[in-house]
Amino acid sequence: MKAGRVHRVSGPVLEVEGLTPEMLELVEVGEARLPGEVIALHNGRATVQVYAYTGGVRPGDVVTATGHPLRATLGPGLLGGIFDGMLRRLSGAAVLLGDGERPGTLDEVRRWAFTPVVSAGDEVTEGAVLGEVGETAAIVFRALVPPGVGGTLEWIAPEGEVTVVEPIARVGGTEVRLATAWPVRRARPVAERVRADVPLRTGQRALDLFFPVTRGGSAAVPGGFGTGKTVLLQQIAKWCDADVIVYVGCGERGNEMADVLEEIAGLEDPRTGRLLLDRTVLVANTSNMPVLAREASIYTGVTVAELYRDMGYDAVLIADSTSRWAEALREVSSRTGELPAEEGYPAGLASALAAFYERSGRVRTLAGADASVTIVGAVSPPGGDMTEPVGAHTRRFVRCVWSLDADLAYARHYPAVSWSDSSSRDVERVAEWHATSHDPQWAARREHALRLLSDADRLESIAQLVGAGSLPDRERVTMLAGRLLREGVLQQSSLSANDAYCPPGKQQALLELVLDVYERCRALVEGGAPAARVEELDLSAVTRARETAAPDDPEAVAEIAARVLASLGELE
Ligand SMILES: Nc1ncnc2c1ncn2[C@@H]1O[C@H](COP(=O)(O)OP(=O)(O)OP(=O)(O)O)[C@@H](O)[C@H]1O
Ligand SMILES: [Mg+2]
Repeated sequence: MKAGRVHRVSGPVLEVEGLTPEMLELVEVGEARLPGEVIALHNGRATVQVYAYTGGVRPGDVVTATGHPLRATLGPGLLGGIFDGMLRRLSGAAVLLGDGERPGTLDEVRRWAFTPVVSAGDEVTEGAVLGEVGETAAIVFRALVPPGVGGTLEWIAPEGEVTVVEPIARVGGTEVRLATAWPVRRARPVAERVRADVPLRTGQRALDLFFPVTRGGSAAVPGGFGTGKTVLLQQIAKWCDADVIVYVGCGERGNEMADVLEEIAGLEDPRTGRLLLDRTVLVANTSNMPVLAREASIYTGVTVAELYRDMGYDAVLIADSTSRWAEALREVSSRTGELPAEEGYPAGLASALAAFYERSGRVRTLAGADASVTIVGAVSPPGGDMTEPVGAHTRRFVRCVWSLDADLAYARHYPAVSWSDSSSRDVERVAEWHATSHDPQWAARREHALRLLSDADRLESIAQLVGAGSLPDRERVTMLAGRLLREGVLQQSSLSANDAYCPPGKQQALLELVLDVYERCRALVEGGAPAARVEELDLSAVTRARETAAPDDPEAVAEIAARVLASLGELE
């Protein structure tokens, strides 16, 4: 091992003499062996950023190079756990508020029931599945041949109990264990990237019906203070139809993060009836933790998502919020004397964001499975400025933008997803997928509804000036359609048992209900009925259907539709 000495301390950044490490190499500082990363090398000195509180570090302290970059330990036991940005286990929500000893990532004593799926003498390639461990009630952990290793399987552990640190196999002279290490800033290898065209069902109508994301896609949720970003991301974590969720809480206030964790910890998984935590990994960085652990946390999180992807699962990484992460990046670069670019962020901000979102994707794994990592990140610009660098760059790198609108949130229209400012580059692919999966009308309904919404918005601003009464009858019915779409389809209560999650069948039924009622009202007006009469109709059954019908009961919506349409028929 190579060793040097601390020359100067500046917050979390050290100057180190006498050490000739690699860029991004991990070093250990002082007797406490604080982890740090080499971020610059010049004139025989190394600049090191430390992933811990540096209050006790003095010039002259010994710094040792480890010979490898910042790595995360991966293995069974991640699911259901809460970790810091370097994937060190936090024993519970309470620990978030204090600064204490932090143990390693995995429990090294626990014994797992291991079942081999290959036999000694087999030829195995990198990424191949060696055996399985029931990690939680929901997810089977697949032990893989590590990337870069392959050859003849010389030995494999028999069926039985193993710890994460005991060897389970020997491949081409290399011992393989359940626990492996991976440098978090490097994407894990795959056989190939595959076109992402299967929708990820979030269960949120405003997203799935209008701005769909694919398995392997990416989405940003920009929104001002208190517009509902965290609630929306949590709804996605709870209800989306992925196998594994990695939730990175980035720089939120300590107590807020503890609340989030407690809430998720107590939730039942709606799909399995078991605990949601059984398929969730939480990475928590509060603003009172070392800034560098926060900077690392999104890469750590995406590395964990890639691990489960490589086992053949669809994983989703949720980061709340990437703006707090970018602030950590800015704080570090300002201490290293790097020349700041836009608004004090380092020039590397755009490439750092790109490197993060590029790790989303649908792939064929090294073992040949179809699997994906989907990334969803909140963007919370200071002062609600949507043109600031983090938001502006993020928009270039993601496939979907789910923009939260402060006016909608103020009017308590939740989720406050704007239908005019949001977008999805995957609409056509998802439309094709629906067309070949029993819903050929998906794209036409979507277009019709979006056109009605934008027409209604335009008419409403005119109506505010001249009064709705002076608009032509037909346009008044368009405004009515806009209201029904907003209240009956786009709004979705996260608190209602029937409404919090909306599966595809009910989504389709609700949108058809509103569009059919609109067509009938339009026909009435065209047939000579006064618009005022149509506006007076009690259509509350239409806007309440989302709460009265159970999630798995689209027929209940169809019955409401039949009743309402029949009563409208009597007006003719
Ligand atoms: N879908 C929803 N249903 C009901 N209430 C909601 C919903 N979304 C947001 N709210 C309300 O808005 C409040 C703020 O939401 P949230 O904390 O998600 O906002 P945020 O954008 O994450 O805020 P911050 O900028 O502080 O991170 C919530 O406490 C809740 O009262
Ligand atoms: Mg929030």
